[in-house]
Amino acid sequence: MALAGKNILLGISGGIAAYKTPLLVRQLVQAGAQVQTVLTRSALEFVTPTTLAALSGRPPRLETFDIEAESAMGHIELARWADALLIAPATAHTLARLAMGLADDLLTTLALATPASLFVAPAMNQQMWAHPSVQRNLTQLIDAGCRVIGPESGEQACGDVGEGRMSEPEAIVRSLIESFAPQRLAGRRVVITAGPTREAIDPVRYISNHSSGKQGYAIAAAARDAGAEVVLISGPTALAKPPGMEFVAVESARDMLAASQAAAPGSDVFIGVAAVADYRPAQQHDRKIKREKTGDMRIDMQMNPDIIHSVARSDRRPQVVVGFAAETNDALQHARDKRVRKGLDLIVVNDVSLPGIGFNSNDNAATIISAHEEVVLHKQSKDALARALISAIADLLDSQLAPTNPESAPQ
Ligand code: CTP
Repeated sequence: MALAGKNILLGISGGIAAYKTPLLVRQLVQAGAQVQTVLTRSALEFVTPTTLAALSGRPPRLETFDIEAESAMGHIELARWADALLIAPATAHTLARLAMGLADDLLTTLALATPASLFVAPAMNQQMWAHPSVQRNLTQLIDAGCRVIGPESGEQACGDVGEGRMSEPEAIVRSLIESFAPQRLAGRRVVITAGPTREAIDPVRYISNHSSGKQGYAIAAAARDAGAEVVLISGPTALAKPPGMEFVAVESARDMLAASQAAAPGSDVFIGVAAVADYRPAQQHDRKIKREKTGDMRIDMQMNPDIIHSVARSDRRPQVVVGFAAETNDALQHARDKRVRKGLDLIVVNDVSLPGIGFNSNDNAATIISAHEEVVLHKQSKDALARALISAIADLLDSQLAPTNPESAPQ
C-alpha cells in the first residue's frame, strides 16, 4: 500500500495506449491511492467512462463546466485535492498544450491550477516522438519541474518499431511511488562523465570507440530525479542533451580531464561512465594527411591521462567516486583490482562479451563492487540499472563509511 492516502488525478489523453489505463487505475487503487480520472474528449474514443468509474469508484470528469460534477467538487477544489497529477498517455498534442500553458479543457486547466507535481507518460508514434517540436515541449515541461515516465522502445500499435511506446502500468506506478519517497540526493552535487572520447589524428580523422553514452545519460537523469544538482560531461553522442542539468560537451580525453577537474572539487559524487580512449595519436596533424602512393602508415600512440584516478586522488576528492569497468574476461577479478588501483569507492562491472547488454543496447547487467560487498544487478533496462546505482550511492553517502575510504591511496 505504498500510495495509501495519496490522491491521484489521472489525466487520460487520446492515444491508443489509453487502452492500458483501466489496468493503471486498478494498480493505483491496489497501491492504496484514491484515483480520480479526467478524460480529454479524444480519450473517449479509446476507453469507456463506465470501465474507469467501476475501477476507480468515481465517475470520470470530462468537462470543465459540467454543472453536476462541479457542484460535487469544483475544478479548483479538485486541483487542490490532488497529491499528483499523472497524465497517461500524454499525447504529442497534450504535451504541446501543457508546454504552452493552455487551459482549453478540464485536464489542462487542472494542470495549471494544481500545486501537485505533474507526471507525464508520453505515448506516440516514434517519428512524432523524435520530432524537435515534441522534444522542445518536453524540455520546457521538465525545466518547469514535470517528471517524465518513459516512453519505452519497441513495437508500436501503428506497426513501427522505435521509441514512443507508453511505459507499462507497473513502471508508471513504480515511478509515482518513488517520487513520494524522500529525494535521496537532495542538496548533493554529482558530476558524471559519459560517452566516448575522440582523439584526433588530423582535422578530419579520429580514433574513438562504440560507447553510445546511454548508460551515463541514464545515470545523470536518475541522479537529477533523486534531487541532485548534476553536471554531465559528455563526449560526442547521438543522444539529446538531457534537461534539468548542466551539460558540458567535450571531445578528447584531455578536454574531459580539464572539465572533470573543473567540476569535481566540492562535489559529493563523481561517476566516471565515459569510455575514455586510453591512447591518443602522439602527433595531431594540422592538415589532412594525404595518401602515399605506396606503403603502409603507422600512427604512434601516446597514453592519455586517467581522469577518474586524477579525481580520486585530488585534494578536494568528492566523498564518493564511482568507476565503470567494461570487461571481456575475468570481469570480476579485473574490476576488483581496478577499483583499488584507481582509488574508487564503487566500481560497476559488466561483461561486454555477453549478447544483448552493454554498448549501444538499451539493457545492461552489472555487478556493483565496493570494499564490503558485491551486488549483482541482473539484466534490466539502463534506466532501471541507473536508479539501482543511484540508490547504492545514496546508501554509501548516508553511511559513515564513505569519507574514510582506506584503500584510496594515491599512486
Ligand atoms: N577512465 C578514466 N580515464 C581513462 C581511462 C578510464 O577516467 N583514461 C575511467 C572510466 O571512465 C571508467 C574506469 O576508468 O570509470 C575504468 O575504465 P577502463 O577503460 O575499464 O579502465 P582502464 O584503466 O582503461 O583499464 P583497462 O583498459 O586495462 O581495462
